Amino acid sequence: MLIKFDFNNMMTDFIGEQGISTQDIEAVKGVAEAAFDYFEDNRGTGMTGWAELPYNQDEIVNDIIATAADVRANYDNFVVLGIGGSALGPTAVFNALCHFRYNDLPKEKRGVKFFVEDNVDPERMLALLDVIDVKRTMFNVITKSGATSETMSQYLIISDILKKAIGEGWQKNIIATTSSAKGNLIKLAKKEGFKLFFIPDGVGGRFSELCPVGLLPAAVLGIDVKGLLKGAREMDKACVSANPYENPALMAALLQVVAMSKGKNISVMMPYADSLRYIADWYCQLWGESLGKAVDLDGKLVNVGQTPVKSLGVTDQHSQVQLYTEGPFDKVITMIAVDKFRGDVTIAEGAEEFPDVNFLCGHTMGELINTERRATEYALTKSKHMNNTIILPEVNANTVGQLLWFFQLETAYAGAMLNIDTFNQPGVEEGKNATYALFNRKGYEEKKAELESAPKKQDRFII
Ligand code: PA5
Repeated sequence: MLIKFDFNNMMTDFIGEQGISTQDIEAVKGVAEAAFDYFEDNRGTGMTGWAELPYNQDEIVNDIIATAADVRANYDNFVVLGIGGSALGPTAVFNALCHFRYNDLPKEKRGVKFFVEDNVDPERMLALLDVIDVKRTMFNVITKSGATSETMSQYLIISDILKKAIGEGWQKNIIATTSSAKGNLIKLAKKEGFKLFFIPDGVGGRFSELCPVGLLPAAVLGIDVKGLLKGAREMDKACVSANPYENPALMAALLQVVAMSKGKNISVMMPYADSLRYIADWYCQLWGESLGKAVDLDGKLVNVGQTPVKSLGVTDQHSQVQLYTEGPFDKVITMIAVDKFRGDVTIAEGAEEFPDVNFLCGHTMGELINTERRATEYALTKSKHMNNTIILPEVNANTVGQLLWFFQLETAYAGAMLNIDTFNQPGVEEGKNATYALFNRKGYEEKKAELESAPKKQDRFII
């Protein structure tokens, strides 16, 4: 059940001069091959430690499954405290693979209730505290650096509440997922005796869904984590060739890089399945944070990147698709299709006298959503806008594992083709450091002085 990548509508034979020709592909095939070789030569080293995750976690997965069973047996709620990759991955997989109204199901039809708290909006935290009993809640604090302000402030708030509510033994309600080597969470976890899972060194936040960051929440939800990893392995095996015509993720990367060179600076991710809508959010971080870079590996100022945009079919046909079909030729639209939905609903008869409505009767919603996707594909192609489709036979742990892996490989290949550091995020770090400075964190005095010496805002506010 391999997922498919259909890139016909990226090509000149379908969209004319706005498209990519076979000569365009030939012209960069060597760069793509070199990117593939670079990735394979470095696989598992440095910040590509994530590439080994589908193969090296048997023992950890057993621990994760045992811990998840314990959580399910002894708690009512599981709350992820984390941001960036630590929140987007668990959210995406939860929404893809659990019931749409999971938390609202009667207790006997679900496991523990699930919440992901990424932002530090105080109203949101207060709302969470209104609906959970902290004594019956397992909190999973996830931060690779063990220093991220949002996550650590959430940790401090929650640990204080737990201490007051439970007293002795409050530590049992926290699981820490962090780096084994650096940061403060590891030190706190050891001091307090929290259950610990480690984020391996070569696994950055946005590449971490298939390590304990994502696997523990998934296992708590009863998701087949071995199936996710098996899916990733299957996609990995489908991408063993340096020839883009035999490696779907490499072809996808090549096409996006060529598209960027033709001014397509926006990548729209548009699943035609509500279950996959948060995969688009996850993709936006992966693609945006990995490829948006000021300098290349030779130190040359390049300011590259493609702005990722999330969209949902068919909902956004009534919002964004007008722009996609008639607006500027600056986008690549990637649709994600699902052949077979896990359930379907027939549109009832009863409109015989109204032919303009009756044509729908007897069809299913699954047929309708897929027909609308094909219709949008037709409209985009007719208006000569680059589009491609990733097709999942159905949404399950295996195909979601494949999809995540496809995007991770595509991103790594694209970054290598662009000759940038795909795995750093200096722009994000700049913001993190400025926050530390503004909050007078020790060691950030120089940054504070820099901020204070920045030009003062003029009176340019309009009330
Ligand atoms: O991709 C990344 O590395 C980042 O976006 C991180 O996920 C995010 O900044 C959170 O970092 P941390 O896991 O250190 O708390």
